[in-house]
Amino acid sequence: MFLSTLELKNFRNHKEIKLTFEKNIILIIGDNGLGKTNLLEAIYFVSSAKSHRTNSQDEMIRWGSDYALIRANTGSRAKGIIENDVCENKYLIELQLNHSNKIKIRLNKVAVKKKSDFVSRLPSVIFSPDDLSIIKGGPSLRRAWMDSLLEKIYPDYYQLCLRYQKILNQRNGLIKSLNNGKNHTANTMLETWDENLIKYGSEIILKRIWLASAIKDDFSRYFNIFFKSADAGLEYIYSWDRINPSNNYNTVYDDADLQFTGGKILDSMQDYKNNYNANNLILPAELAAMRAIFKEKLKQNFSRELGFKNTLTGPHRDDLSILLNGKPLKSFGSQGQQRIASVCLKFCELEILKKKLGKNPVLLLDDVLSELDRERESQVLNLIGERFQTFITTSNINYLNDFDEINSKNIKKFLVNAEGVSEIDPGQVNANS
Ligand SMILES: Nc1ncnc2c1ncn2[C@@H]1O[C@H](COP(=O)(O)OP(=O)(O)OP(=O)(O)O)[C@@H](O)[C@H]1O
Ligand SMILES: [Mg+2]
Repeated sequence: MFLSTLELKNFRNHKEIKLTFEKNIILIIGDNGLGKTNLLEAIYFVSSAKSHRTNSQDEMIRWGSDYALIRANTGSRAKGIIENDVCENKYLIELQLNHSNKIKIRLNKVAVKKKSDFVSRLPSVIFSPDDLSIIKGGPSLRRAWMDSLLEKIYPDYYQLCLRYQKILNQRNGLIKSLNNGKNHTANTMLETWDENLIKYGSEIILKRIWLASAIKDDFSRYFNIFFKSADAGLEYIYSWDRINPSNNYNTVYDDADLQFTGGKILDSMQDYKNNYNANNLILPAELAAMRAIFKEKLKQNFSRELGFKNTLTGPHRDDLSILLNGKPLKSFGSQGQQRIASVCLKFCELEILKKKLGKNPVLLLDDVLSELDRERESQVLNLIGERFQTFITTSNINYLNDFDEINSKNIKKFLVNAEGVSEIDPGQVNANS
C-alpha cells in the first residue's frame, strides 16, 4: 500500500483536514495532545477497518458530531520509490463511521459489505511504545499479537477464533456446573464441546506455529543488526507445556502466573515447527497429530480443570516465548534489548505481510524512535530506508535533521498545532531546530 492522500472529517480532534503525502517518509511533528496519534489511527483504520487503541468506534467520532469520515487515495506515487514493489493498486477508500459501531465502507465508490473483503488489500503495521508489552506483558498480549497478524493474512482466521471462543465459553459454563464428573447429561455434552474445541483449537495452534516458524529467521536476523552476537529466537509454547507453580485450586487462576517449563515439546510436532510448510497448507497428517495430542492433553488435565472450574488446555493458554541466548527475554533481557525485540517483531510483521499478500505494507511509527539510543535509532531509519512508506510521529523537532541526512529527497514533513495540520518546508525546520 502506498498512501497518497488522506482526508478526515470529524475524526477525533481533526475537524476537517486534507493531506497529500506522495513521499516515502512522512514526518508528523507536534506538541503533546494535538492529534498526531489520531492521524496514524486514521491511517490504520483505512487499512484494517479497526483502531489499534480502541474497540469503540464512537470514541473516534469527534465529540458532538454525528459521524466521522475518512477518505484516502492509495497507490499513486512516483515510479520506483519503493524497492521490489510487487503490486500497488490504486484505490479510493471511503469509510464513514457512525455511532453504535455502524460503518459504511466504499472501495472505488462501490460499497463493501464485509470487512474481510477489504482488510487484507491494504496492509499496514503500526508500532507504538505500548507494543513493548508484547515482550514484557503476559501471554495474552503475545497471543493477541499473533492473532491480529494471522487475521491480516487469512481473512477466515477471525471467524475461526470466534468459533473457538464460543465453544470455550460453553465448555467453561458446563465445567462449572459439573459435580465432580457425576452429572451424566453434562458429561455427554462435554464430549460434544470437546470435539469442537479440539477441531477449531488444533487449527488455531497449527496456524500460530506456522507463523512463529515463518518469522523466526527474520526475527533473529533483525535482532543481530542491533546486537551483533546475540542469539535471538522464538518458540511457540503449548498450554500443556506451561505449568502453574501453585497446586492450590482455591487460588484464583491467573494466566500470567503460568510459566514456561522449557523444552518439553512433543517430538511429533517438533518436526512441524522445524520444517513448517511455507505455503501454510495444513497437512491432514499434521492436523490429525495435533488433534490427537490435544485430545490426550484434555483428558490428562480434566481433574485439574474440575478443580479450577475452567478449561486449562488449548490455544487460549498458549504462549510465544521470545528468547535471547536460549533464555526468556522477558525475564533476562535489558530494557534496550526488549525494546529492540519489539521493533524486530514489527519488522517481521512487515516481511510476512509483504510475502503473503504480495503488497508493501505501510509502516506507522508512533513516537517510538525517541525511545531508542542514537545508534539504534539510525539503524532503524536505515532499515526503513526506501523499503516501506513510513509515517513517523514525534514531538521532538531535532529528529528531523537525522532524517535529512538519510533521505532528504523522499521526505515530507507536517506540523500539527492548535490550528490544524500543515506541511512544513525544510528551511522552516532548520531555522527552528
Ligand atoms: N472523539 C474525540 N473528539 C475530539 N477530540 C478528541 C477525541 N478523541 C480524542 N480527542 C483529543 O485528541 C487529543 C489527543 O490526540 P493524540 O493522542 O493524537 O495526541 P498526540 O499528538 O499523539 O499527543 P502525544 O504527543 O502526547 O502522544 C486529545 O487532546 C484528546 O482530547
Ligand atoms: Mg501520541
